[in-house]
Amino acid sequence: MSKFTIVVDNLTARDLAVEHGFALVVDCAAGRFLFDTGAGAALLPNLAALGIPAGSLRRVIFSHGHFDHTGGLAALAAVEPELQIYAAPGLTCRRYSRHPGQKPYELTMPVASRQALGNPARLQEIATFQEILPQVFLTGPIPRISGEDCGGPFFLSESGPEQDFLSDEQALLLGDGTLVQGCCHSGIINTLEYCRRCAPQIRIRTVIGGLHLLHASPERLRRTVEYLQKLDLQELILGHCTGAAAIEYFQEHLHYPVRLARSGEIYEC
Ligand SMILES: [Fe+2]
Ligand SMILES: [Fe+2]
Repeated sequence: MSKFTIVVDNLTARDLAVEHGFALVVDCAAGRFLFDTGAGAALLPNLAALGIPAGSLRRVIFSHGHFDHTGGLAALAAVEPELQIYAAPGLTCRRYSRHPGQKPYELTMPVASRQALGNPARLQEIATFQEILPQVFLTGPIPRISGEDCGGPFFLSESGPEQDFLSDEQALLLGDGTLVQGCCHSGIINTLEYCRRCAPQIRIRTVIGGLHLLHASPERLRRTVEYLQKLDLQELILGHCTGAAAIEYFQEHLHYPVRLARSGEIYEC
């Protein structure tokens, strides 16, 4: 059993700082990890309020390069310079969301966090699914293999045609059955299928994190539920970019608990 403390989220269960972002502390048999760092301002105050010393966080896993997951690195590195960072290739590339009729919105990892990556020896690039410590697995880039409708308005420049497929996105899978997500831009069906293919020995029971279903079509939600119903899952703990409508839909249609992840909550699973 491992322990998961939600440090930063869009919502809080206590009187913690809130922001559009996500950060989670994982305590498992192999040690302690920080999974994502939030957008920046909330990380250190929330760690202090939760009684987690920033200096106890020596390992940081990045789910992907978006600013709301990487912006807290600069503040953390200033307190704890001896960080080991795990990220899939492409973490720092420029990226934007572009909605028709609106200005492009930059989502790149903030400059201060890019500078804090500093010494390349600090960064371990995860290019393929691998076990980084006993029973701690990182997916590396997640192939979009299931036909899941998980596109988005993401581009690699302000005006060019090149789409951003978030190839730097990865998830954390623990041997005792929990899958941890940041935004899950690659799609939850693709991610679960990839994990089941790469680590068939692990029975995935819990999914924690954001599923980026804020603007999902009714058809996508229906297909996602149809898929999730077939799996032997026990619990979903969903926050950040999942979207209230998607969480309600899952609560209505899945036969196992679907909880709202908010900062300040601690789960053991
Ligand atoms: Fe996000
Ligand atoms: Fe994201």
